[in-house]
Amino acid sequence: MSSVPIRDRAMDEAVIVGRDRENVVVGNEIIRHRLASRLIHWSVALTFFASLFSGLPIWTPVFAWMAPLFGGLQVCRWLHPWAGVAFSIAALVMLVHWFTEMELKPEERSWIGPKLFTYMRYQTDDSDVGKYNGGQKIFFFTSALGALGLLVSGVVMWFPLSFPQLVRELAILLHDATFVLFAVSIVFHIYLATAAEPGTFGAMTRGTVTKAWAPLHHPRWYKDVTGEK
Ligand code: HEM
Repeated sequence: MSSVPIRDRAMDEAVIVGRDRENVVVGNEIIRHRLASRLIHWSVALTFFASLFSGLPIWTPVFAWMAPLFGGLQVCRWLHPWAGVAFSIAALVMLVHWFTEMELKPEERSWIGPKLFTYMRYQTDDSDVGKYNGGQKIFFFTSALGALGLLVSGVVMWFPLSFPQLVRELAILLHDATFVLFAVSIVFHIYLATAAEPGTFGAMTRGTVTKAWAPLHHPRWYKDVTGEK
């Protein structure tokens, strides 16, 4: 007979099931993100931070101390555009992968605006939230838009001699404004996905959340998945 406690066996089963299935209950857990979704998400995150940290020392000497992380400023200069290309590809794959699930319903349009801040103060009515709330969907689409803005402006800066001066200047403005806004939104994203809502981070590592977490943050998704009223 196996010496592994029943609870641990159920946990391992969740990891196995989560390799190719999601939105299913396994023991006391619910699979929220299958392995493919998690790999895509972490590819986006990894290439985002590689682009950010190799780009900051090129942007201003204030961040020169980051350059040795990649082998020096010269390495950053050639690595940064390629990291940006890798990020754009990963972001495109994520866009396609989650596109249908992230469709913004008419009643969720109110999330565009002050509701995002009301949510940060835990003052929104979350009783009819499905797998993703309006804020997550907006973050998803603005991330895709941000990635596009960075790619387009980045290509202009990569091949400056191919573009007129006005286009080059606009590209610098767009690139800088986009990455600053993007970096700020990622700080909020990480805060919400970890400290603000404990139990969420596991959705992107193990792929699971507990049965207690789900009705608290995504009640309609919980009902759909479990069939419970
Ligand atoms: C260390 C950095 C990061 C952490 C800890 C993190 C964590 C998470 C977690 C736990 C989720 C699942 C949320 C849920 O199931 O409700 C998630 C979803 C998501 N992440 Fe990240 N993430 C990170 C970086 C990034 C970056 C850099 C991007 C984009 C450039 C990104 C884009 C997304 C998107 C679009 C979603 C789906 C929508 C949402 O849940 O907000 N993440 N992330």
